[in-house]
Amino acid sequence: MKRRLIFLIGYRGAGKTTVARLLAEKFGWSWLDADAVLEERAGKSIRQIFADDGEAAFRDLESAILGELCTLENHVFATGGGVVLREENRVCLKQGVVVWLRASADVLWQRMQQDITTAERRPNLGQGGLAEIEELLRAREPLYEACSDVTVDVEKRAAGDAADAIRSAILSPVGTAENSPAL
Ligand code: S3P
Repeated sequence: MKRRLIFLIGYRGAGKTTVARLLAEKFGWSWLDADAVLEERAGKSIRQIFADDGEAAFRDLESAILGELCTLENHVFATGGGVVLREENRVCLKQGVVVWLRASADVLWQRMQQDITTAERRPNLGQGGLAEIEELLRAREPLYEACSDVTVDVEKRAAGDAADAIRSAILSPVGTAENSPAL
């Protein structure tokens, strides 16, 4: 039996934070952005954490916070794009319904270029740009897929449509997204 929790996973630029807020409104639940919780806890941006302490320290903090979040109920969480990398995180996520917001590298890159504020707070994880997204998606898509209960294509869907599709998929036994677990 799943907890009454929804985790949104997927690459940066997929719209996890906006969809989390809209989806939480639909369910009458609370929502949190796990990266924002982490930055508040650390007292600095993720870019600064990477610069001062390195990626491993960031990933440790990310796992610790996820461990706390997955004990809650009636929440929708937007997670960081790399949360699926650790096995312990994937186990944690599976306590709730995991929804993958999927889009192509091209579309993600276009959206990330328009989102200057987020870019300022996030480090490059490789060479940057479209090449970085393509490389990381090759490694991560199998993990996003293996981890998710519901996949929603956000390539052409606005955030509101994505939230509607997720709600239908979760509540209906046949759903409108690709699959649909009971909550
Ligand atoms: C990361 C994505 C970021 C943030 C960190 C690492 C990643 O989250 O957690 O910079 O590894 O893809 P968003 O997906 O919310 O940008």
